[in-house]
Amino acid sequence: MIKMLRTALCILMTAGLLAGCAKAPEQTVEPELLLGFSQLGSESAWRIGNTRDIEDKAARYGVSLMLENANQKQENQIAAIRRFIAYNVDVIAFSPIVEEGWDNVLMEAKDAGIPVILVDRDISTENEELTTCLIGADFYSEGVEAAKYLIRKANKLRLTHVNIVEITGTEDSTPMRQRQAGFMDTIKNDGRMEVIESINGDFLKSRGAECMRTLLEKYGNDIDVIYSHNDEMTLGAIPEIEAAGFEPGKDMIIISIDGGQEAINVLKEGKINCVVECTPMLGSALMETALKLKAGEEVDRLIHPEEAVFSDEQDLTQIGPRGY
Ligand code: AHR
Repeated sequence: MIKMLRTALCILMTAGLLAGCAKAPEQTVEPELLLGFSQLGSESAWRIGNTRDIEDKAARYGVSLMLENANQKQENQIAAIRRFIAYNVDVIAFSPIVEEGWDNVLMEAKDAGIPVILVDRDISTENEELTTCLIGADFYSEGVEAAKYLIRKANKLRLTHVNIVEITGTEDSTPMRQRQAGFMDTIKNDGRMEVIESINGDFLKSRGAECMRTLLEKYGNDIDVIYSHNDEMTLGAIPEIEAAGFEPGKDMIIISIDGGQEAINVLKEGKINCVVECTPMLGSALMETALKLKAGEEVDRLIHPEEAVFSDEQDLTQIGPRGY
C-alpha cells in the first residue's frame, strides 16, 4: 500500500500536479531518494535563498524533493512531517521555526524508521535519537563575531560608554537564542557596554521598522548601537533612523547578520557598519547527508558551513555577488 502511495506520488510529481513539490526530476519510476523537506516560511531574503538552493541542489543530485512551506506556523510543519511519514519518504528534513514541541511527531518518524535531518535550526529535546544531525550555521559564533566587531569599533572611536539596542529574531528560535548568548557572553566583561533594551522583531522587515520606531521614541539620541539579528530587520530599521534625523552608520553603529545582497549594498554605502555572514547555501550538504543516510552510512552529528565577517574595516570592493 505504501509502495503504491509512493509510486502515485512520483507520477503526480512528474506531472507537476502536487502542490508544494518542487522540480521533480523527469521520471515515473520510484526515485533513488525521496526527501520530504518542511521549510518554515518565507520571512527573509535568506529564507528564500535557502529554499531555492535546496530545490536547485535536489535537482542536481537527482533527489526527488517533496517541499512544503509552513508559512511561519509550527502546526503546519508538524502536519507536513506527518504527511511525509504517510508517504513513506526515505528521509525527512525540516527547519524548525522554534526549538520546543517536536518530540511527539519525531517519535512517529522514528517509529516509522525514517531518519530526520535538522536544517538551519536546532530543537530542544531530551532524546538525541530523534534526529540524526544538524546542518546549519554556528549562530553562537555569529553573536561572538558581532560583539568582537563592536569592541574593536568602540576602541577605535575611543568610546567610554556604549548604549546598545538589540532587535532579536523569533522568540524561542535557535538563531535568536544563540546570537543573543554569543553577543552577551562576549561583551559582558567590557564595562563600557550596556544593552538598554532587547526587542523582538521576529526576523521581519516590517517588525524591524516598528521596533526601531519604538526604540527611537524611547531613547532617541541615546542609542549608540543597533545590534539586529538579521538583515531583514536591519533594512526595516534604517529608513526609520534616517526619518528621525540620524545618519545610520555614523550617528549610530549598525551591526547585522546574514550577508544578503541588499545588506551588503547598504554596507558599501556606509549605512551599516558590520554584517556577520550566515549562509543559506545548505543544499549540497543536505543532499549528500540524505544520500548517505539512505545508503545506511554514518553521518556527522553537526555540520557547520564556514562563514565570514564583512565590515567597514575591510576593502568592501572585494565582496562578490552574494546569490541571496
Ligand atoms: O535561521 C536563520 C535565520 O532565519 C536568518 O538569519 C534569518 O534571516 C532567517 O529568517
